[in-house]
Amino acid sequence: SGAQRPRLTFLGTGYLGATYAVCYAELGYEVIGFDVDQDKIAKLSDGQVPFHEPGLDELLRKNLASGRLRFSTSYEETAEFGDVHFICVGTPQRAGGLGADLSYIESAVTGIAPFLNRKALIVGKSTVPVGTATWVEELVAKSAPESSEIEVAWSPEFLQEGFAVEDVLRPNRIVVGVKSEWADAMLYAAHKGVFDLAATEDREVPVVTTDFATAELVKVAANAFLATKISFINAMAEVCEVSGADVTHLARAIGHDPRIGNKFLQAGLGFGGGCLPKDIRAFQARAQELGAGEALRFLHEVDLINLRRRTRVVTLAAELLGRPAGPAGPNLTGLKVAVLGATFKANTDDIRDAPSLAVAAMLNKTGARVVVFDPQGMDNARKALPDVEYADTLTAAVTDADLVCVLTEWAEFRNADPATLGELAASRKVIDGKNCLDAGQWRAAGWDYRGMGRP
Ligand code: UGA
Repeated sequence: SGAQRPRLTFLGTGYLGATYAVCYAELGYEVIGFDVDQDKIAKLSDGQVPFHEPGLDELLRKNLASGRLRFSTSYEETAEFGDVHFICVGTPQRAGGLGADLSYIESAVTGIAPFLNRKALIVGKSTVPVGTATWVEELVAKSAPESSEIEVAWSPEFLQEGFAVEDVLRPNRIVVGVKSEWADAMLYAAHKGVFDLAATEDREVPVVTTDFATAELVKVAANAFLATKISFINAMAEVCEVSGADVTHLARAIGHDPRIGNKFLQAGLGFGGGCLPKDIRAFQARAQELGAGEALRFLHEVDLINLRRRTRVVTLAAELLGRPAGPAGPNLTGLKVAVLGATFKANTDDIRDAPSLAVAAMLNKTGARVVVFDPQGMDNARKALPDVEYADTLTAAVTDADLVCVLTEWAEFRNADPATLGELAASRKVIDGKNCLDAGQWRAAGWDYRGMGRP
């Protein structure tokens, strides 16, 4: 049934699942977004996105109104409704280890499977260790009714927070890991809206059809490559710092070579978020289990380079404030530091593994009075790091500060007037942790400006 326009469900309505549910309704599918969290489902049903993602609110309300989209906390309702069920739950880092915690996948699959009474497809989207799809097949075999014919497929996603709507509607590729022609045809039908939209815009969306293991690996390989690119340029930043070179010029120069490319070469505070850091760790752990640990040893170095950038900001802060570190680290007691940015990057409220918050916590340990401001991440930041102060506005954070640290590249910070801020601050000292400010403009306004990997 449903091979023309299958009915779709998305299990897990976090950044990934909620965006998919809304966008696929926008593409014309009938959709249910499922979550066990009643609060999230109540909000979504009421037209409120429980997190910040540009453009998503509007599309949510439009598609609720269209009648194509609804949300549910009932596995039974979701199972009866859908032809294709996408698993979009989180796979966080395991407590006390590097590997991925698959318990949300397990509960989603074993939650829905008993109610699947007819032929249906379960498609994994979450980022997982290679081998998970086969394990999901076994879970389904154990928990689905004997009469039902359930197949499994894997189709990783590559959306970036902040651009999620665009990335889902207009993906640069679709990867499917399938075992049967039926699953392949079903997934084609489930993606047809994306292909049709592309056709109207004279684009094509490349499709890579492969086996389970490859489909699972594509995702972690892509994220590992991106993380490596960022750590590569941050390693160059370290060398620039000791040689007087400018990593922003270096990145521009090497990026002109199309074999290298100019994207993801922004040196700064390094990568954070709910994906890259935990994905490179889980990838190493899985490779180790499979006996290929040596092949991914470089990812450990990628991680270390990344974390060193955070310490670098604290060292630079101590240097700028004339309080170089003693044996117990720097002592910044009595000084106010404004931390601008709490999210892991701009245009999201996501603070998972945010380099900015990690630096705020480290600065807090030096005895400094740390005052944080973020345009979207305040609620999440307060919960994650309650022991620093929070200001309601950019200007309140900067007022009387001895040092300003810009740690997320929000437009509000990039566009702020350094002359006005200079009048509020106790001292004109700024660290640009993301190399996102106009250094010349800040220096002209009297600021002692320090970027990352640049003189
Ligand atoms: C990342 C990948 O880019 C997506 O393709 C993938 O689908 C997603 O993870 C996922 O696995 O779900 P995301 O976590 O939203 O997406 O964030 P990115 O835009 O990749 O940024 C990651 C971090 O790297 C941020 O902290 C960002 O500030 C930093 N970054 C990025 C740099 O420091 N330099 C750069 O040049 C680019």
